Amino acid sequence: MLRSRAAALALAMTLAFASPAVAQSTADTAPSTGFAPVQVARGAHGMVVSQDALATRAGVAILKEGGNAVDAAVAVGFALAVTMPRAGNLGGGGFMVIHRAGKERGTDTTIDYREAAPAAIDAGSFLDAHGAADPRKSRNSGLAVGVPGTVAGLALAHEKYGSGKFTLAQLIAPAIRLARAGIPVENDLLDSLLLASPRLAQWPSSARIFVKPDGAAFVPSERLVQRDLADTLSAIAKEGPSAFYSGPLADKIAAAVQGAGGVMTAQDLHSYRAVERPPVRGTYRGYDIVSMPPPSSGGTLLVEILNILEGFPLGDAGRQLGFDSPRALHLAIEAMKLAYADRAEFLGDSDAVNVPVDRLISKPYGEKLRGEIDPTRARPARELRPNSPALGVGSGGNTTHFSVVDRDGNAVANTYSLNFNFGLGLVAEGTGVLLNNTMDDFAARPGAPNAFGLVGGPANAPGPNKRPLSSMTPAIVLKDGRPAIVTGAPGGSRIITAVLQVILNVIDYRRDIGDAVAAPRVHHQWIPDQVVVERTLPAATAAALEAMGHTVRIGPPSGSAHSIAAVDGGYEGAADGRARGALAAGD
Ligand code: DON
Repeated sequence: MLRSRAAALALAMTLAFASPAVAQSTADTAPSTGFAPVQVARGAHGMVVSQDALATRAGVAILKEGGNAVDAAVAVGFALAVTMPRAGNLGGGGFMVIHRAGKERGTDTTIDYREAAPAAIDAGSFLDAHGAADPRKSRNSGLAVGVPGTVAGLALAHEKYGSGKFTLAQLIAPAIRLARAGIPVENDLLDSLLLASPRLAQWPSSARIFVKPDGAAFVPSERLVQRDLADTLSAIAKEGPSAFYSGPLADKIAAAVQGAGGVMTAQDLHSYRAVERPPVRGTYRGYDIVSMPPPSSGGTLLVEILNILEGFPLGDAGRQLGFDSPRALHLAIEAMKLAYADRAEFLGDSDAVNVPVDRLISKPYGEKLRGEIDPTRARPARELRPNSPALGVGSGGNTTHFSVVDRDGNAVANTYSLNFNFGLGLVAEGTGVLLNNTMDDFAARPGAPNAFGLVGGPANAPGPNKRPLSSMTPAIVLKDGRPAIVTGAPGGSRIITAVLQVILNVIDYRRDIGDAVAAPRVHHQWIPDQVVVERTLPAATAAALEAMGHTVRIGPPSGSAHSIAAVDGGYEGAADGRARGALAAGD
């Protein structure tokens, strides 16, 4: 019934919000009452889903002109830097997972364009005079800014995996037009500017663009024009990424960071490289999982958790543990805890430290951890790893994900970020480029939580040129070598568990992608020892989890997981309505 209802929505190509009711037959299943709004679209040949309608349309236009998924993704990535300044960016970084269709099963790769620490950062950079972690340094000063990777990453993706039919300049052109002509201030942009204007107003270079001259925030129907950003984009279009990483733009970025108390130099920008890395791969009930290796923890944890869960009977058939049932959620939560404990201890930048990815994603290790789970009781978090070096002595952010597939079956899952809403909030004077505050993703010292409450140890200690550990989890799930699901999400520490639940909802619970994205999400990250649930989770389910020993806290909506699934005769895209203004549109 759900499938046909969602299919009807999709066929109508409706922009209306779907909020399906869920009927379950198993006694173990509490009825789900609340679903996030989701816009579903269908495409016979391809699909783009992003947080912003203008950016989605820029991507679809490239697909229609014969571009491949990578071409479209690059156009979307640059467009979002204009239309979604809180997270779309040139001054931040991220990760792209690419599936290339081929004769056999195709090939997969990833591009790591995570921000890097400047060469002058060391293990003590984010501590105060007493050796305690100092969040002002890692979140609110120039020290927080990592060397931006986005321009290098998108350019590398285009150069190596674009169709060859478009120059980089052609893919940047829509972004330049949007920056120069201005964009309507509405939906997510309006919401985010209203929230962030006090922080943006601290920096004159930012206030000039994002706050009106009288200090007031924008109101609906006004336009946001970004002339400096248009000039920066034009320079990149004309000269390539070197326009950003050397010369006047690099000088201006380094000067802005130093002016705010940071240590980044023009040489740091000049030395920055996006890196192509083999993906982390796993399998789950006959599907292949392809996602991001370190310096993101996303792919490793996703595969580790799926390996643990593979041995449990999750599903809606007779004796299985049904959708959203307290017992199924309990098992997922216990698996999350174990994996996040490993994250805190072992994960970091694998170019700087040894990360045992192969062991963590192996089936025998998943089986061992499965054996540690009590199917009826929550285990206290500290009991799992009492001696973890990540225990030591004991805000809102922003990121955005978009998914693309094309007519040949190529796929891109891309998540990129400034870390907080508008990053540090600082625009490098004369560039229009907002700078990230991603250095807060390092463990400033063992046991000191970052803004997302994540702890870590020496593996994720700050160091020169090191990339801080991320949770971004752009993921492509393949069936018989073809993309079955393309997904990812923002949400800081909650990214990995959001992506996990979208995948479980499709594979185990046979939900279509709209319902899979809409369903309530739960999250546990080991420390703090609590399950954060969305308000849409039925109260009876939360109470049942508490009865099993979990501490349940209602949190804000989990990140917007803009996703695509293959369906008969094409693709279905789901724009997650947890933030306003997202659009799925088909080719
Ligand atoms: O890389 C990370 O894990 C974080 N910097 C992501 C931040 C984020 O998702 C904030 N968005 N809501």
